[in-house]
Amino acid sequence: MEFLFDTANIEEIKEYSHFYPITGVTSNPSILKKEGKIDFFRHFREIRELIGEDKTLHIQVTAKDAETMAAEGRTIREKIDHKVFIKIPTTEEGLKAMRMLKAEGAGITATAIYTKIQGYLAMEAGADFIAPYFNRMENMDIDSKNTISCFAKQIERYGYKTKILAASFKNIAQVNAAFEAGAQAATVQPGLLHDVLGMAAIGKAVDDFDTDWRAAFGDLDITQ
Ligand code: E4P
Repeated sequence: MEFLFDTANIEEIKEYSHFYPITGVTSNPSILKKEGKIDFFRHFREIRELIGEDKTLHIQVTAKDAETMAAEGRTIREKIDHKVFIKIPTTEEGLKAMRMLKAEGAGITATAIYTKIQGYLAMEAGADFIAPYFNRMENMDIDSKNTISCFAKQIERYGYKTKILAASFKNIAQVNAAFEAGAQAATVQPGLLHDVLGMAAIGKAVDDFDTDWRAAFGDLDITQ
């Protein structure tokens, strides 16, 4: 399983990447909007420096037509690095841009996936990752779990290299469900993980262990 952070906030990435075993960072223009008027390329270069080259960085294009999406993807690769996965919405134009950039050797993350057919077409267009929007699908009464398990089956059946990078989560139960349905990766806001790991029951268990340890052994130091 791979966990990624769905954020473009440098402080958040800095703070939480020490704790969580993440394999990458994703963003989109709405996530980026929260950062205010940043220098787009400098901001992502900073994120790359922070996470290192061994992690995946997924940056979304902003245009709606294939030629401009492809041009944006090229510039992102030139100005940040060639390892960036270019995130492209799975529209008709997006599918064209995916194939153009793939032919140039770019890594592709097909995003804004609500339907099975978008995922299947993106796999065939050469996407390295497909990003089904778990919560948004649920909001539209589309079965996210079934969609992900169909993607997993087709990937297995036809031997696609594509990974399912589930996205758009509003709670941890959705993240678990995505993995259990067959997603290899999930991109999650760090705050969602922080809230679950910060639950009172976990804190109480740790405090109880501490109390019992001290009652039995005082301040015995076992680091020595
Ligand atoms: C991935 O990066 C997606 O763009 C993102 O998870 C969408 O999340 P939202 O549905 O909360 O906007």
